[in-house]
Amino acid sequence: MSRRRAATLHRRAFAAEAECSASAPGRVNLIGEHIDYNGGPVLPIPLPWRTTVAVSRATRFLVISELEPGPRPLDDTGYTAYVGGVVAALSEAGIKVPPSRVAIASDVPAGAGLASSAALTVATARALARLAGARLPREVLVDVAFRAEHDHVGVRCGRMDQVVAVHGRPGRAILYETATGSMRQVPVGASFGLWDTGVRHRLTGGLLDARRAECESALRRLQLRWPELKCLADVGPELLGEALHLLPTELGRRVRHVVSETARTRRAAALLEGRRWGELGALLLDGHRSLQRDYESSCAEADTLVRKAAKDGALGARLTGAGWGGVVLVLEGGTAEGRTRFAWKSPLQAAREGNRPGWRNG
Ligand code: GLA
Repeated sequence: MSRRRAATLHRRAFAAEAECSASAPGRVNLIGEHIDYNGGPVLPIPLPWRTTVAVSRATRFLVISELEPGPRPLDDTGYTAYVGGVVAALSEAGIKVPPSRVAIASDVPAGAGLASSAALTVATARALARLAGARLPREVLVDVAFRAEHDHVGVRCGRMDQVVAVHGRPGRAILYETATGSMRQVPVGASFGLWDTGVRHRLTGGLLDARRAECESALRRLQLRWPELKCLADVGPELLGEALHLLPTELGRRVRHVVSETARTRRAAALLEGRRWGELGALLLDGHRSLQRDYESSCAEADTLVRKAAKDGALGARLTGAGWGGVVLVLEGGTAEGRTRFAWKSPLQAAREGNRPGWRNG
């Protein structure tokens, strides 16, 4: 468990006990990919894996993570950039954090599309606010974590990951309508595989920013025709045909993904509530095809694993998270006892064994 490891890391690295600690979970997005920054719905589920941050007051900021050889001051690289972002965002929210020692332990794989960065920023904000003697309402916590990553680290993310890290409950998906901020907790009760492609991404300055810029450009063009449009998720299937005529082919494909994924996500929430696993699985496969062809955020390894999962009899599968690598979410089916289970498969296991029975490890 990351909690004990963070306390031990703090003790070993700084020769002092931590004064307090806090944690937050990673997430897997069931469906609604690249929709949070386009004003539509998303359907993420918190994972049973968490990041813990243990902190104590000091004379200057020092950060250590399990994955790095020694403590580092706050700078613009790796983990410390996120911690620095949180300190800056807390200060903007009126909370002055004292210079601190920060130890980070995590069970959330990094760069795998499982929102390890939101788990880190939310856990850090909780721990440092506590150290400063401040209580953060949940809305402020989401905002601080979002600003840390978006404004300070410079990843042009939406708010899905921070919302589920703060509001997520075990075994429940959140249908989060990003335009209105409304949230509905939906019980899951299914068994999933998380098949690792082995491909890792870096989001800063990368393809996520490029896609977001394309979406903004498409929206500006469509607003010339429909000035009342506030976001791409408002386009709706009835306007899609005309929208495609107004846009260059590539931007049209991005919009087609946003429109179809928005519809799939609301439908998926209804199917999840009705425990209609077969139809839900088919939607996940459609969602993957849309990422592959229209949003072009998949990769060859993910496409192979999705094909393999379907061939092996899984109900559905799709690449989850930002994309271009990371993890394929495989829907096995509902569980009789209504529990939600996740089983990790390494790239080698996923490629060799696929969905053979008896592979579960979680
Ligand atoms: C990343 C971002 C999220 C979201 C997903 C894609 O995880 O942090 O806000 O945009 O990509 O759905």
